[in-house]
Amino acid sequence: MKLNITLRHIFSLIFLLLTATLHLQAQDLAEGETLFKNNCSSCHRTSGAVLIGPPLGGAKAKYENDKEWLHQWVRNSPGLINSGDAKAVALFEQYNRVLMTPFPALTDEQIDNILAWAEEDAKPKVDVAVNGTTPSDPFADPKIYYTLLALVGILVMISLILVVITATLVSAVKAKDGGEPLTLAAVRTRTVSLLKNKFVITAIIVVALTGGTTKSIIEARKIGLHQGYMPEQPIKFSHKLHAGTHKIDCEYCHSGVRKSKNAWIPSVNVCMNCHKYIQNGPQYGTEEIAKVLAAWNEQKPIEWVRIHNLPDHAYFNHAQHVVVGGLKCQTCHGPVEEMEVVYQFSDLGMGWCIDCHRKEPVKLKDIDGNIIPTTSTVEDMGGLDCMRCHY
Ligand code: HEC
Ligand code: HEC
Ligand code: HEC
Ligand code: HEC
Ligand code: HEC
Ligand code: HEC
Repeated sequence: MKLNITLRHIFSLIFLLLTATLHLQAQDLAEGETLFKNNCSSCHRTSGAVLIGPPLGGAKAKYENDKEWLHQWVRNSPGLINSGDAKAVALFEQYNRVLMTPFPALTDEQIDNILAWAEEDAKPKVDVAVNGTTPSDPFADPKIYYTLLALVGILVMISLILVVITATLVSAVKAKDGGEPLTLAAVRTRTVSLLKNKFVITAIIVVALTGGTTKSIIEARKIGLHQGYMPEQPIKFSHKLHAGTHKIDCEYCHSGVRKSKNAWIPSVNVCMNCHKYIQNGPQYGTEEIAKVLAAWNEQKPIEWVRIHNLPDHAYFNHAQHVVVGGLKCQTCHGPVEEMEVVYQFSDLGMGWCIDCHRKEPVKLKDIDGNIIPTTSTVEDMGGLDCMRCHY
């Protein structure tokens, strides 16, 4: 059999591999997350119950074959509804005739990124570990490995081209000398001997090691960052029920936030202010509240598993942020009043602190307590000095 793999075949293969890589990067989840949080999270969750609009985790799959309509919807849903589009009108009716804000500035790609991230985020990140001590690993993002794999694929293709070029040249030289044209079998033997070559083996090992190191670096950067951490607690205490349904103020229980560095977890006697009288819960009947009563009777503290935990070398002060900075709990802790079980919403990494200090204007107040408009950020007040946060 005459060798007839042409360079064109090989280039089109490389092109395919490259586009596959680019496609993976195009679905930029990070951009999707930011856009979602800035534009959509006031009305949509990614999973669970309807907020104002339906959860968006399933939208990507739902509109897989109808992308154009989806893009139009997000950019201008009132327009679609007014035009009498049946699907748009049905959605509008289904969700209590609430109009969704139009987002004319979003590109197709940005909308796809938002929904790709929503799909990713909707996957359960609950990690109920033994004793609640093992953090979950929400950063595991396989994208990087696919990219690496594609790169290795490209390297292999390049080596193949080299083999073919050599083979063609050798074949040409042989033909000129009146020898046999090169057969596929001959190429195979040559390739096998090439694979046994020390240099090639070294190259393969180096590529494998580089991949390994990249993975270790990614792993190392995650140490200490426990975003999404959601341990099982000794009593099924629900923020959704207490802070959401019954609208109990966060500070009623976390009474440290205005006066101290720590927010404080309430002690059993705070629970007893109400549970002396309320001994029957809507979900678990008397079972879970009985544990509160038992702790009270035995005068034993409830051993809540701590979720947020900065390393000792970093200093964070609640009063400074809540009182002086005027920040809401939710800015840092997310929609706690909707959480059945609390989880760590932000990654609490240094980048996260710095990012806000760069952007957040300080709240200067006049003598009557009115906020004076200012463009000064925390950064301008020295909020990026290492010594403010490290000692
Ligand atoms: C002001 C509230 C609001 C905001 C902000 C909002 N939406 Fe909506 N969205 C809704 C409502 C309400 C519906 C249900 C349809 C209706 O009533 O018009 C909906 C429906 C949808 C649907 C259809 C879901 C389905 O299951 O068919 C998609 C997709 C969607 N929104 C995407 C987005 C995206 C992406 C953003 C952010 C860029 C966003 N929405 C921001 C309120 C909002
Ligand atoms: C009725 C009392 C009560 C109210 C009201 C309450 N919490 Fe809590 N909170 C607790 C208890 C008890 C825990 C510890 C158990 C747990 O993690 O669920 C806790 C834990 C937390 C944690 C995690 C602490 C850690 O271990 O790192 C955060 C964050 C938090 N609450 C924020 C809030 C916010 C924000 C609000 C208001 C929207 C609020 N809480 C309202 C009792 C309360
Ligand atoms: C300000 C009043 C108040 C305080 C303080 C309070 N609770 Fe509750 N708790 C309630 C109410 C109201 C209910 C719901 C009763 C109902 O709907 O029937 C409830 C229900 C519960 C339930 C039952 C949940 C279920 O679905 O069965 C548990 C468990 C519970 N609380 C634990 C605690 C713990 C632990 C604390 C202290 C950290 C605490 N509560 C502090 C008011 C309070
Ligand atoms: C600027 C961001 C930010 C804001 C705003 C904020 N927190 Fe925190 N919160 C943190 C960080 C960071 C930690 C971890 C602190 C540590 O480990 O030393 C934390 C820890 C906690 C804890 C764990 C226990 C403790 O005593 O530290 C609770 C409970 C809590 N926050 C409740 C609240 C409540 C309630 C509010 C609103 C009144 C609030 N936080 C506002 C960033 C914030
Ligand atoms: C969502 C925004 C936000 C986040 C996140 C945030 N901060 Fe801040 N921080 C502020 C604001 C606003 C102030 C300014 C308060 C004031 O006016 O003095 C501040 C002030 C401070 C100060 C005092 C600085 C000074 O110049 O007096 C320290 C220390 C600090 N933050 C530490 C942290 C640490 C550590 C983290 C991360 C664990 C963090 N902050 C995360 C908004 C934030
Ligand atoms: C606004 C607060 C803040 C400022 C300003 C700040 N850091 Fe940090 N830094 C943190 C927090 C919070 C962590 C812990 C992050 C974690 O849990 O991994 C940290 C972690 C670190 C670490 C440990 C490695 C790591 O990435 O986790 C080093 C080293 C460090 N900071 C150096 C510095 C230096 C140098 C500066 C000044 C240029 C500085 N920091 C300024 C908040 C701050």
